[in-house]
Amino acid sequence: MIVAIDGPAASGKSTVARALARRLGYRYLDTGAMYRALAEEALTSGVPLDDVEALALLAHDAHIAFEYEGDDPVYSRVTVHGRDVTRAIRTPAVDAAVSAVARIPEVRAAMVAEQRRCAEGFDVVVEGRDIGTVVFPDAEVKVYLTASPEERASRRLRDREGAGYREEFEKVVADIVARDEADSTRDASPLKPAKDALTLDTTGLTVEQVVDRLARIVSERVA
Ligand code: DC
Repeated sequence: MIVAIDGPAASGKSTVARALARRLGYRYLDTGAMYRALAEEALTSGVPLDDVEALALLAHDAHIAFEYEGDDPVYSRVTVHGRDVTRAIRTPAVDAAVSAVARIPEVRAAMVAEQRRCAEGFDVVVEGRDIGTVVFPDAEVKVYLTASPEERASRRLRDREGAGYREEFEKVVADIVARDEADSTRDASPLKPAKDALTLDTTGLTVEQVVDRLARIVSERVA
């Protein structure tokens, strides 16, 4: 069973996908973390963000891995060539760099192949931008989560403060709108709902309400 969860930045995908994976006991696959890990590796190793060839090579060779603890279906660590980048991929510097990396077709081809490999043999909840459209077009359940830019900015600020970063609300709203624009107008796999996806606006809904609804949809598909 593949549950594909797509949607724009800070739409609640991660929180919902993690909680849903734990509720169902399905493995959680965070494809955004893979693009983030690659962007972090580019920044760390000094690869310029406009050097398409070098980034494609980096994507091809980067060994990005998720580590799981015990029977928790949600990963505890992300590594690149064995280097722990779990925290480093959530910084404003990586936020700013990741769209440049994710719009390169060769990078996407390498990541998509890796994502399909990671899901092989598992029931999975897969979160991203192009899961229902490109990575798993035959996924049994496809959901497209959205929320207003202001609600998404509030959520992002709460996450960032938890991690020790402070940012201006208006700047975060502007960043989110800019990233939506970059992600949905790029040529390679732009962000858009799959034709057969259920679109769910989570503005004003609790995580629990969204997860309940999705768990019901999955159990109807399994039955
Ligand atoms: O979901 P996120 O914020 O962690 O995603 C980080 C970036 O990666 C975001 O700018 C969009 C990109 N991304 C993508 O292009 N395709 C995916 N399947 C997942 C993320």
